[in-house]
Amino acid sequence: MADVIVGIDLGTTNSEVAALVDGNVQVLAVEGEQIMPSFVGVSPDGTPLVGTPARNQYVVYPERTVKSIKRLMGSNERVALGEQTYSPPEISAMILRALRTRAEAALGRPVRRAVVTVPAYFSDAQRQATRDAGEIAGLEVVRILNEPTAAALAYGADRQGDRTVLAYDLGGGTFDVSLVQVSGDVTEVLASHGNNHLGGDDFDQLLLDLVLTRFIATGAPDVRGDRRAMNRLLRAAEEAKKRLSFEPYTRLREEHLGARDGVPVHLDLEISREEYERLISHLVDGTLDSVHRALADAGKQPGEVDEILLVGGVTRTPLVSQRLRDTTGLAPRQDVHPDLCVALGAGVLAARLAGHDVDRVLVDISPYSFGPSYFGFVDGRPSEHCYHPVIARNTPLPASRTDCYVTMVDNQEAWQVSVYQGDDPNALNDILVGRFLIEGLSPVPAGNEVLCRMDLDLDGILRVTATEKRTGLAKHITIEGATTAMSDAQMAEAHRRMRDLFGDPEDLAQADLDEGALADDEADPDDDIDLEEAEPERSGLEEAGLDESRASDSARATGGGRERRVAISEARALLERGQRLLARMSAEDREEAVRLQQAIEKAIGGGDWDRLRAATGDLADLLFYVEEG
Ligand SMILES: Nc1ncnc2c1ncn2[C@@H]1O[C@H](COP(=O)(O)OP(=O)(O)OP(=O)(O)O)[C@@H](O)[C@H]1O
Ligand SMILES: [Mg+2]
Repeated sequence: MADVIVGIDLGTTNSEVAALVDGNVQVLAVEGEQIMPSFVGVSPDGTPLVGTPARNQYVVYPERTVKSIKRLMGSNERVALGEQTYSPPEISAMILRALRTRAEAALGRPVRRAVVTVPAYFSDAQRQATRDAGEIAGLEVVRILNEPTAAALAYGADRQGDRTVLAYDLGGGTFDVSLVQVSGDVTEVLASHGNNHLGGDDFDQLLLDLVLTRFIATGAPDVRGDRRAMNRLLRAAEEAKKRLSFEPYTRLREEHLGARDGVPVHLDLEISREEYERLISHLVDGTLDSVHRALADAGKQPGEVDEILLVGGVTRTPLVSQRLRDTTGLAPRQDVHPDLCVALGAGVLAARLAGHDVDRVLVDISPYSFGPSYFGFVDGRPSEHCYHPVIARNTPLPASRTDCYVTMVDNQEAWQVSVYQGDDPNALNDILVGRFLIEGLSPVPAGNEVLCRMDLDLDGILRVTATEKRTGLAKHITIEGATTAMSDAQMAEAHRRMRDLFGDPEDLAQADLDEGALADDEADPDDDIDLEEAEPERSGLEEAGLDESRASDSARATGGGRERRVAISEARALLERGQRLLARMSAEDREEAVRLQQAIEKAIGGGDWDRLRAATGDLADLLFYVEEG
């Protein structure tokens, strides 16, 4: 049996162990937990604690708990833990030992050898201290690997010819950016820059301060002196920070956080991503200075970088990739879980050293982007078919993301959510995979927020939920097989159906205007089309999970019949809107509108599709100018 070698990311905040399992390098989990907090402690009754239990006791018993020991590696300092003091390698060894036990449980065999990663800037003394820690834990450290190089290995950068890779690593407690030159089997760190005291912990602290200020402003007692309350608040802030990476708003709720005059006080407040980004933007900007300095030190221009790899949990924050994209013009890669990337890269090297031929890690990712169309502007023209992915291609699965959309007109009571697959900003060039209607929205001015959440799982099941933010009113659709590649024939059919529905791509600008007119109102709820609205569009998806609105799916239509139903429902919506606007029209426009409305009714009645298209186009134009005027 080949020797087992595991790969270990011994992080300041979190640590992981990875190994080759069934031909693929994976982070090993115990009871579903892959990430182990780098905390060590001794409970009041003398039980040694490592990982989550140690982290949990940290705020209550700081004198019995050690965190961030990585910062002291290579120094002669000793740290107190309960009644004893320990050297930094001894503390790190407790973490390594727990990881080793975890690996042995997951692999079902003894583990004696490991590749362990360290920051590129670690000195010889720090590297030696890391080796010592391994030895104390009963592990032979067969290789000390630089973290940015590990990230490059996880991404398979060494199998793509000569490349210059920028690894941007923002973890829990440290930030560093490195330029790695990869040529075949040789990888070299050209330059590295960073801040040993910047990371997610600082982001948590800023959010905590904001939450406290707001909490106290509501008349709540000042809980700053209460360790337990502060611990709960810090955890809540960290969780909120994580959610804000995927959602535009998040709620923090903590029951009974304090008491005023004997009455329990609860925390319940909402934070928006925008607010959060304002808080952290100076910190993110600071990291970009390091990027420029690392580039300068390596003698490279941004244009010479082939790839940016995102490493470290905090890089999930959308502002980070946005700023990197803005300054370098490159879209950072994030198709390997950022907080597992270093461990996985160590696992790749470990597997190779054990004699296995491993190229890179295989992570389940979404091969396509998904999102709803919305009303906005394409090339300066108003269009109902604007599109921006909610889940972007290459996102590791399972993935959940939420974006916010707003109603376009006052008292808009429905939104027909059309779900597309693709990357073109014009939805008409993407593939419609499902549609459903959320109706019964509140009668409020335009700008009513509707959250569109997408959950895509490993089996390719895409669940799309639209929720009116102010009321929580929600509607959803489930689309199966969303990640399955379409055959050429299916693709051609999808494009043909789009053309039938909206006209030739050359006429898109015109089609946009026509369809744009429908943006403010949606299908007549009484129309039998409703059963169709939640129908996944994709052919071959007959077994699609059903939205509750499709308790009966007898109306499932195929081919042209379905398109006609959609055309009719859209025409009806247009008629209704025309009706509302009549009062605002000049006598001349009104006459023309009534004539077109009659033509539409007649075309629907007589099944004259060409006439229907022409008349709805004319009416949409007219309404557009009336509204603009
Ligand atoms: N979805 C998310 N959005 C924002 N931050 C996140 C998210 N998930 C995890 N984090 C943060 O990532 C940080 C941990 O990152 P990681 O596990 O990469 O750190 P680490 O490698 O131990 O730290 P270091 O690189 O400093 O040694 C924590 O601050 C955690 O809150
Ligand atoms: Mg790290």
